[in-house]
Amino acid sequence: MMKVGYLQFNPVFGEVARNLDQVGERLAGLTCDLLVLPELFNTGYQFVSVDETRKLAEEIPGPTTAWLGKLAARRRMHLVAGLAEREGDRLYNSAVLVGPSGVIGRYRKTHLFFEETIWFAPGETGFSVFDIGHARVGIMICFDWFYPESARTLALKGADIIAHPSNLVLPHCPDSMVTRCLENRVFAVTCNRIGSEERGGKKKLTYIGNSEVVAPNGKILQRAKPDQPELAMVEIDPLEARNKRINPYNDLLAGRRPDLYVTE
Ligand code: ACM
Repeated sequence: MMKVGYLQFNPVFGEVARNLDQVGERLAGLTCDLLVLPELFNTGYQFVSVDETRKLAEEIPGPTTAWLGKLAARRRMHLVAGLAEREGDRLYNSAVLVGPSGVIGRYRKTHLFFEETIWFAPGETGFSVFDIGHARVGIMICFDWFYPESARTLALKGADIIAHPSNLVLPHCPDSMVTRCLENRVFAVTCNRIGSEERGGKKKLTYIGNSEVVAPNGKILQRAKPDQPELAMVEIDPLEARNKRINPYNDLLAGRRPDLYVTE
């Protein structure tokens, strides 16, 4: 058994130190095995120029991942968190998996949403699964949910839990993750943010909260409100995700017919 959860909160745009403090304060006294934070949790989401994105982006490893690593070491836990990544001239909407010994994994968002396509390069890491001892953790970011291939690829690579940092603005994802979990027999922890941003004369974005933990049978084990901060933990048995048998006649992954599927 392990304790997994999310911290849904309202990052303040551009205020990295303040956002890290906010997370540190909200996690006081927490013990858990795996905590998911939102997409771009340390900077906020609504960038208005590439220059601004470059200034707020960090290398991985870098200051924010060092901060996450210290937190992970103090609490003997693992964290998955989204942040803007800079590597040379390239900027990515990335997420990291950090444990007590530092950065374990990095994922660069594959399916960029809306103006993210201006600020960031599309990720080329592909979908990876990392073994943290209690479980195998796969990572995807927000709009990746819209492409069922993302969660399917993580399931095929052996993920027990999909960690899903998000900044959702459209309403459909929380309910759709029920299907993503059911059709892949995996757990998912979607961590969304709350609040709104309206920067540089751009359209106001209101984030829909509704962070959640969903089980391989599609049951919503925990779901947050649309507009309140929430730190939630759920006890799960990640090994439930390894049983892909639907009934005595159907095995979920073995029953696939890839020879009949179109991939391009
Ligand atoms: C999103 O991918 N942040 C909607």
